[in-house]
Amino acid sequence: MPTPMRIFVFASQKGGSGKTTLAGHVAVQASLAGHGRVAMIDMDPQGSLEKWWESRHADEPAYYRADMASLNGTIAKARGDGVRLLVIDTPPAITRAISDVVAHADLVLVPTRPSPHDLRAVGPTVDIAEWHKKQMVFLVNAATPRARITGDAAVALSQHGTVAPVTIHHRVEFAASMIDGRTVMEAKPGGKSATEMTELWSYLADRIARMDMAEAEMAVPMPPKGAYRTNLNALGQRAPIFGRRVVS
Ligand SMILES: Nc1ncnc2c1ncn2[C@@H]1O[C@H](COP(=O)(O)OP(=O)(O)OP(=O)(O)O)[C@@H](O)[C@H]1O
Ligand SMILES: [Mg+2]
Repeated sequence: MPTPMRIFVFASQKGGSGKTTLAGHVAVQASLAGHGRVAMIDMDPQGSLEKWWESRHADEPAYYRADMASLNGTIAKARGDGVRLLVIDTPPAITRAISDVVAHADLVLVPTRPSPHDLRAVGPTVDIAEWHKKQMVFLVNAATPRARITGDAAVALSQHGTVAPVTIHHRVEFAASMIDGRTVMEAKPGGKSATEMTELWSYLADRIARMDMAEAEMAVPMPPKGAYRTNLNALGQRAPIFGRRVVS
């Protein structure tokens, strides 16, 4: 079975939670980690991700321009081009359009700052992901080192869904590196922020591996009715009969 393209949708109605920053960083880290072809789509009319990508010098990840009318076709094109991970950024809103984008997701990533305002704002985003029965993960972003509220925020978020086991801390380099189209991994390799992104990606790569495995298992056909009686498994091979010695 060919490896399917996975789609990550960054969504959160709260402005400034880190959707664009983390979408760009996750896409670049996936590419640096050798995940295969990685591409991005910016569905936010502000176009921050697209402008950042245009100022990049590196060729990877790729970028596809799309709007709501062309999104289905663009996703199909990316799949046809052999993209393995498609990262989609969305605007800070709760609209029908966001819901339509989330409908394409394999995983909805919800960056959340550890602040009461951000925590109170997650509900509608969670509702959209649940409505579409999508896997979802909270990313605690821009946390202050050693602040108690970070742990409290993670506990509060865990009432609504899975929280990524890696906290992204507030560091100027996240903003500074993006000015000229880079990321912390490219501007400060080996630094603390880069290490956080490496760890976050290994968690996300593991989520993808689990999805791939679950789908591969689903793809194995169930044994046809009576297969056990005829001693053949689903693939038509001779299956062992347990508890009885069989002489063939
Ligand atoms: N971990 C971080 N450390 C420092 N600054 C950060 C961090 N994450 C995001 N920022 C900064 O916070 C601001 C908002 O981040 P970003 O644009 O990624 O959020 P957003 O959710 O995409 O916002 P919007 O909802 O407006 O699209 C930016 O200036 C960005 O550089
Ligand atoms: Mg944004």
